[in-house]
Amino acid sequence: MKKLLQDIRQDWVANRGQAKPVLVVLSYRVASRLAQRPKKDLVWVAGLPLQAAYRLVVEWVLGVEIPAKTKVGPGLRIFHGQGLVVSRHAVIGKNVLLRNNTTIGNRHEPEAAPTIEDNAEIGANSVLIGPITIGEGAIVGAGSVVLHDVPAGSVAVGNPARVLEGKKD
Ligand SMILES: CC(C)(COP(=O)(O)OP(=O)(O)OC[C@H]1O[C@@H](n2cnc3c(N)ncnc32)[C@H](O)[C@@H]1OP(=O)(O)O)[C@@H](O)C(=O)NCCC(=O)NCCS
Repeated sequence: MKKLLQDIRQDWVANRGQAKPVLVVLSYRVASRLAQRPKKDLVWVAGLPLQAAYRLVVEWVLGVEIPAKTKVGPGLRIFHGQGLVVSRHAVIGKNVLLRNNTTIGNRHEPEAAPTIEDNAEIGANSVLIGPITIGEGAIVGAGSVVLHDVPAGSVAVGNPARVLEGKKD
């Protein structure tokens, strides 16, 4: 419970003043916590309506798909929150920024989804596919299609994405 409250606080700070991202991220946190409970446990069963409400409101109405079982670190920032789709198997670190119309998913096998490390930023209209790693603090430019790892602290742009020389931290 303490960890959940800490995560919620970080999410709140990261999205302060942005009603929709706050609603999306806080709803994800609660749904995620419920999804981690052992199946058929009393809390899991009692939480089923909340999990259903999460899907109905956040996925269907708001157009943001972050499955409750996806691992997402605290401080997730969402800009705009339109058309954001994240694989159940993706792993997202702390203080990551995800912009609108971004897809983070598998390329062939369902489990082969990206890992986005702490403090990375993903530009609008990006597609990240396959078992790639976006390194800590890396930036993916708007409209990029990322098929390979992006080293920590670097900037990648384009389709297919290339790392910009001289932009590394
Ligand atoms: C990737 C990004 C951070 C790079 O910014 P920057 O470090 O200032 O880079 P520069 O503007 O100096 O551009 C460097 C080179 O990359 C190219 N480039 C920059 N962003 C690009 C992009 N998104 N796609 C393709 N090429 C891009 C530039 O044309 C330039 O190429 P050149 O050297 O051949 O002329 C920025 O352009 C970007 O895309 N940010 C995402 C912002 C976003 O999603 N906004 C949406 C808000 S809703």
